Amino acid sequence: MSEMKIKAARKAVEYVKDGMILGLGTGSTTKFAVEEIGKLVSNGYDLVGIPTSIETEKQARSLNIPLTELECVDRIDLTIDGADEVDPNFNLIKGLGGALLREKIVAYYSVNEIIIVDESKIVNQLGTRVSLPVEVTQFSHKKTKESIEKLGCVAQLRGSESPFITDNGNMIYDCKFEGISDPYDLALKLNSIPGVVENGLFLDLASHVVIGTKNETKVLEK
Ligand code: A5P
Repeated sequence: MSEMKIKAARKAVEYVKDGMILGLGTGSTTKFAVEEIGKLVSNGYDLVGIPTSIETEKQARSLNIPLTELECVDRIDLTIDGADEVDPNFNLIKGLGGALLREKIVAYYSVNEIIIVDESKIVNQLGTRVSLPVEVTQFSHKKTKESIEKLGCVAQLRGSESPFITDNGNMIYDCKFEGISDPYDLALKLNSIPGVVENGLFLDLASHVVIGTKNETKVLEK
């Protein structure tokens, strides 16, 4: 599995050009891409990164990748990030690693968003392989859960003994739908519930999907 992730990550980093401002995603696949970006920096590339989590920020700092904040730039040239599901329209579920809010903000401001996955993440319909992560405020989260479940899922608070708290101080409900037939409608309905901060549906945000398989690395471009 790691080998497929490494292949996808290396292929995506071929799109990095000297002088770029890069969004740095989060997760076990993206970790390999950040490693490669670190190598480019030590080879003299002038790159600046915007990390999507504290975890990625730590990794980037350890590799001496210069970092900045979204407010300080007028664009992000390219973001490389992972995903938990990818459908045939390049729509995604993200957030199993808990970084969905920052990942979505960074994706929104990115000219290109390359998604790197191993082949197990490819699905025909979103919501069939994994639960959909939804980030909610701690305040009144049980009420928020009730409203989320009215949309047709079972919502499970992440973290069994002590709740998982995101980098933004919020909680996550993992919402099991039996397939999501209209992700656009669901995304709107979820985000209109007070207490929902963001959902893990990434719609029309990916420009490329790089899939690592046993035998090859496929690059799909929108
Ligand atoms: C982080 O919150 C997630 O969106 C990750 O990008 C996603 O879960 C993919 O992670 P892996 O590469 O570890 O599977």
